[in-house]
Amino acid sequence: MREMLTVDYHRPVLLNEAVSHLRLKDGCIAVDCNVGTGGHSEAVLASIVPHGRLIGIDLDAEALASARARLTHYEGKFMLARANFRRIDEVVSGALFDQVDAILFDLGVSSLQLESGVRGFSFKHDAPLDMRMDKDARLTAYDIVNKFSKDELTRIFREYGECDHARSLAQSIERARLSQPIRTTYELMDVLRIRRERRAHERIHPATQVFQALRIAVNDEMGALEEALPKAVNLLKPGGRIAVISFHSLEDRIVKKTFEYFAKQCVCPPDFPICVCDKKPALSVLTKKPIVAGPDEMADNPRARSAKLRVAEKIL
Ligand SMILES: C[S@@+](CC[C@H](N)C(=O)[O-])C[C@H]1O[C@@H](n2cnc3c(N)ncnc32)[C@H](O)[C@@H]1O
Repeated sequence: MREMLTVDYHRPVLLNEAVSHLRLKDGCIAVDCNVGTGGHSEAVLASIVPHGRLIGIDLDAEALASARARLTHYEGKFMLARANFRRIDEVVSGALFDQVDAILFDLGVSSLQLESGVRGFSFKHDAPLDMRMDKDARLTAYDIVNKFSKDELTRIFREYGECDHARSLAQSIERARLSQPIRTTYELMDVLRIRRERRAHERIHPATQVFQALRIAVNDEMGALEEALPKAVNLLKPGGRIAVISFHSLEDRIVKKTFEYFAKQCVCPPDFPICVCDKKPALSVLTKKPIVAGPDEMADNPRARSAKLRVAEKIL
């Protein structure tokens, strides 16, 4: 049965690096904030059983069902919550823990979501413009494409997609939707005059950044991360570790800045003669530079090419 399900599984990125840096041992309480199809969760569980427990969080009910099937041999050792990780504090207290030993984030989208032919995450399938990780969420990619202003679309393409021609992409959408709504992934590509096929000389498909930008906006991925990280730091026991795998420069910046803030001795303005903030460092950053995938993993798994892992340890 496990063999049959393997085809649907997302290939976890930086698996050994992330798990080894969490310094797990039997009895640890760990939180996987992005369970996906359970690749990282399975490796974490292997390191913390028989006495440890895993709390797994994901917004996506399909991902959780897939993870549950994968983790059956650890039944009783984990609980899965369908929730936004921005509510990590409520999920952990709901599982009746005050503090935990390890927290892992593996941000972004899973292959399960990208390869779905109906959820609109990928330009490879003609599907309704949806892109919600949480199917109960209200905002869809259709709403953004058809209802957001040109300025707002420009910002989304520029900030989240790092698209060179953000304004002209937004203009093309604004013009096209005057005659009829843009309903599907292929209609959006036609409006933006993006070919379906990637040419041999193109490193990435020209639609990649547009779709990434819309997905990040639909799921408020940066907002969720900014809210979750300080809560995660607070939940760690002294000596506990947090590891974050990110795939976008904005995400990595949020992780780096948050870790730096919690590692600082003082946050007074630089012109203050003496410290009045009374801040104490709560984290020690273990990765001055992010850990990246080795050449073999990069060659083997294209998603690994943009992955960055940062790790920190709670010190009080
Ligand atoms: C890269 S995948 C994780 C893959 C997983 N580590 C594995 O080994 O299969 C990211 C997952 O995080 C979920 N996700 C993204 N943002 C989330 C959020 N704010 N709260 C909860 N889950 C989120 C997505 O639904 C997706 O399943």
